[in-house]
Amino acid sequence: MGKDKLRRFEENKSFINLYEAPYSQIYGKDHPLKGRWAGDVFGNDNPIILELGCGKGEYTLALARGNRQQNYIGVDIKGARLWRGARTALEEKLDHVAFIRTRIELIGSFFASDEVSGIWITFPDPQPRKENKRLTSPRFLEGYLKFLRPGAVVHLKTDNRPLHDYTRKIVESRPDCILLQADTDIYRHRTVPDMVLEVKTFYEEMFLREGKPITYLQFSTGLPATGSRAGG
Ligand SMILES: C[S@@+](CC[C@H](N)C(=O)[O-])C[C@H]1O[C@@H](n2cnc3c(N)ncnc32)[C@H](O)[C@@H]1O
Repeated sequence: MGKDKLRRFEENKSFINLYEAPYSQIYGKDHPLKGRWAGDVFGNDNPIILELGCGKGEYTLALARGNRQQNYIGVDIKGARLWRGARTALEEKLDHVAFIRTRIELIGSFFASDEVSGIWITFPDPQPRKENKRLTSPRFLEGYLKFLRPGAVVHLKTDNRPLHDYTRKIVESRPDCILLQADTDIYRHRTVPDMVLEVKTFYEEMFLREGKPITYLQFSTGLPATGSRAGG
């Protein structure tokens, strides 16, 4: 392992906004913060928004800079990437931001029913051969629904058209999900919310350099949110 990675892993241990739990501590069990993020971590009852597979946490940070009335948590398994997001949040005194290093498969150990108000999934691995590993497959969606509030909004931004189409089909087939927006080339149509156009993640920049169209899908859970539209 490179020296830089080791240094980052070491530094991660001192970051008060980065939560890591060994697999054995959470597999099939509740993390001590489950149901307690509002009081124990953020000290307020503001809505909690997750970014899954956040990498360096570009969305977590950008959303947090623009809105202090919500709390943001970036989740990823890669400590060296999370280091960047956690360090930036500390440097910018974004105390409504936290990061969790865990496998998303175990995210249910961290959040109680109705504890989360929204999810961003930004450029996830498309997993073309393993449907069960896609972060928008029924297996994962059913896990998210256990801790999402009714009416919570889920955002998917990806360069991968098959993943976009797959997710749209799943959402449209489920009575507990409502498709709000779907766009297959956001920078050409420019109809999606500003945040979707303005914030570009590390992977997104790479895909844009390759000339790939970027897609966006937005859906809600439970109660319909107002202004429903699906186009593009
Ligand atoms: C293609 S990268 C995208 C990173 C970032 N969102 C971006 O757009 O730059 C996918 C990220 O998801 C993370 N990831 C993939 N599968 C995961 C899993 N099962 N649990 C936690 N993180 C995962 C990877 O570590 C990686 O950082």
